[in-house]
Amino acid sequence: MNATQEKLKHQFAQALVAAFGADYAGVDPILVTASNPKFGDYQANVALSLSKRLGKQPRQIATAIADNLDVSEICEPPEIAGPGFINLKLKPTYLEAQINAIHADSRLGVPTAKTPQREIVDFSSPNIAKEMHVGHLRSTIIGDSIARILEFLGHDVLRLNHVGDWGTQFGMLIAYLREVYPEALTTANALDIGDLVSFYRKAKQRFDADEAFQETARQEVVKLQAGAEDTIHAWKLLCEQSRHEFQVIYDLLDVDVKERGESFYNPLLPGIVEDLEKSGLLVENQGAKCVFLEGFTNREGEPLPLIVQKSDGGYNYATTDLAALRYRIQKDEAKRIIYVTDAGQSNHFAQFFQVARKAGWIPDDVELIHVPFGLVLGEDGKKFKTRSGDTVRLRDLLDEAISRTRTDLEARLKEEQREETEEFINNVAEVIGISAVKYADLSQNRTSNYIFSYDKMLDLKGNTAPYMLYAYARVQGISRKGEINFEELGNNAKVILEHETELALAKYLLQLDEVINTVEQDLMPNRLCEYLYELSKKFNQFYDRNQGVQVLGAEEPWRTSRLVLCNLTARTLKLGLSLLGIQVLERI
Ligand code: ARG
Repeated sequence: MNATQEKLKHQFAQALVAAFGADYAGVDPILVTASNPKFGDYQANVALSLSKRLGKQPRQIATAIADNLDVSEICEPPEIAGPGFINLKLKPTYLEAQINAIHADSRLGVPTAKTPQREIVDFSSPNIAKEMHVGHLRSTIIGDSIARILEFLGHDVLRLNHVGDWGTQFGMLIAYLREVYPEALTTANALDIGDLVSFYRKAKQRFDADEAFQETARQEVVKLQAGAEDTIHAWKLLCEQSRHEFQVIYDLLDVDVKERGESFYNPLLPGIVEDLEKSGLLVENQGAKCVFLEGFTNREGEPLPLIVQKSDGGYNYATTDLAALRYRIQKDEAKRIIYVTDAGQSNHFAQFFQVARKAGWIPDDVELIHVPFGLVLGEDGKKFKTRSGDTVRLRDLLDEAISRTRTDLEARLKEEQREETEEFINNVAEVIGISAVKYADLSQNRTSNYIFSYDKMLDLKGNTAPYMLYAYARVQGISRKGEINFEELGNNAKVILEHETELALAKYLLQLDEVINTVEQDLMPNRLCEYLYELSKKFNQFYDRNQGVQVLGAEEPWRTSRLVLCNLTARTLKLGLSLLGIQVLERI
C-alpha cells in the first residue's frame, strides 16, 4: 500500500464512522486500483460488502459514505458507479505535489522499513571441486537482487554463501591429489591443477575402477574428519582453488557474498543429534538416527524419515542445515532467513524446517523462507547444454553474452559512422552483456522454467536489459542535447501535469514504493522488472509526443516541468536497475 492509499483508507475509516457509527471503524474500505483508468485511479468496494450487515442497497450505502468522505485534497469528487462502487480520480494538483516531493527525495519516495531487522539471504552456494552450473547462476542473480532490495529498505542483511565444502567426495579427491600432485601437498604454494571439474571427473573414474583406491579414499575421509594435518592441508588447497574460480564469476557479476561453507558447522553436528535425542524426536532405524516427518511418505505410503546421522556415523546435508539454522537464529540473531535454491530442493527445506520447528528451535518472530526457482532450459526446451552436449561453463556463458553484444554494437557504430574508443566499446559490451543475462533471469516469474536465448535477451525491443539501458541513455541524451544539468533542476521546479501522457507517467513514477514493498514481501524481483519496463514505455509515450518537441522545445514553465519528469524517470530506472544488480550507461 502506498502513501496515497494509506491516506484514502484513513478518510474512509472516518467516513464509515460518520455514516454508520463507531462499530464501523475497523471496516476495510476494499480499496483497489481501478480496473480501467477511464473510471479513475482507485475504486472502493466497501459498499457492496456492507450491504448484508446494514440491510441496505449498496448504492445507498455508497452514497452515504461518499457524502461523509473528505478527500477533496487528493481526489476529484467521488463518483458512484454500477451496483455501488466508489470511484476516485486523483487531482492533478495532488499528483504535482507528490511528484515534487519525490523529486526532492534521494530515495524517490521509498521509505525505509518501519522495523529494520537482521535478515539472512543464503544464496549462490556452489560446491567445491564441482561445476558452478546455471542453477547456481540463477541463485546468485536472484539472491543478490533480493539482498539489494532488502538492504535498500534498511534491513541488516547477511549475505551467506553456503558452499558445499565438506563430504565424503573429498576422500576421493584428496587421494587422487596425492597420486597426481604429490608435490602440492608438501609445499606451501597455492595449487594449480587447472580445470577442477575435469580433475573431479578423473578422480571419480579412478575411484570407480579401483577397489584399493576406494579404500585409500575412505581412509582420507576418516583422516579429514579427525583433522589430520596433511589431509586438512590438501582439503584447503582444493577449496582455495575452487574459491578462485567462483570469485571470477562473482567479480564479473559484481556480486558480494560471504563464504560460510558447510564445514563451518561441523563442530555443531553432534550437538544437533544430541538435542534431537533429548527432545524425544530421534528414532533409530536400521542403525541410522532419524526423525519421522509428517506429510512426507514413501511410495508405499509409509512415513518418511529425515536421517540426521547415518549408520556409519556420518552426517547429512540436512543435519548441516539444521545446525546452520540454529546458528543463524542464536548467533546471527536473524529474524528472517531466506534460502534461494532450485525448486528441486523444496522438500529438503520443508523437511528440515519441520524438524527444527518440532524441536522448538524456531521462535515465533523468526520467519524461514525457501525461495525456489525453475530450471534454465536450452532453446530446444531441454536441459541447457553446449552443442557437444557438455554442461555450459558459466564463464563461457557470460563471455558469449559479452562478445555477441560487442558484435551488435560494432555493427551499429559502423552503420551510424560513429568512432568510439576501444575502452568505450569494451565497457558497453560488458555492461550490456552481463545485464542481459541477469535481466533475462530476473524478469521471469522465478518459479517457472525459462529458456536461455541470447537472441531474446539481447533484443533491443523486448522486455530486456538493452531496452531498459537504452531508455536510460536516451534520457541522458536529452540532457546532453539541451545542455541541461539535471541535478541543477531545483527541488522547487514547478511541475505541471496536463497532458494525458504526463499524468500517466507521473502516476506510474509514484508507484515505485508500492512495487518495492511488494517485492520485500513476496521476493519476486520480476515485479520490479515489469514495473521498470512499463515505466520505460510510459516514458517513451510521453517523450514521443511530437518527437520530443514538447520537452526541449516547450515554453517555460512547461519545459522545466517536463524535464523534471525526464529526470525522475532516469533516476527511477537507475535506482530500480541497481536493485536488480544492473549498472546503467550514460551513453551507448
Ligand atoms: N550447495 C547446494 C547445491 O549446490 C546449495 C546449498 C543451499 N543452501 C542451503 N543452506 N542448503 O545444491
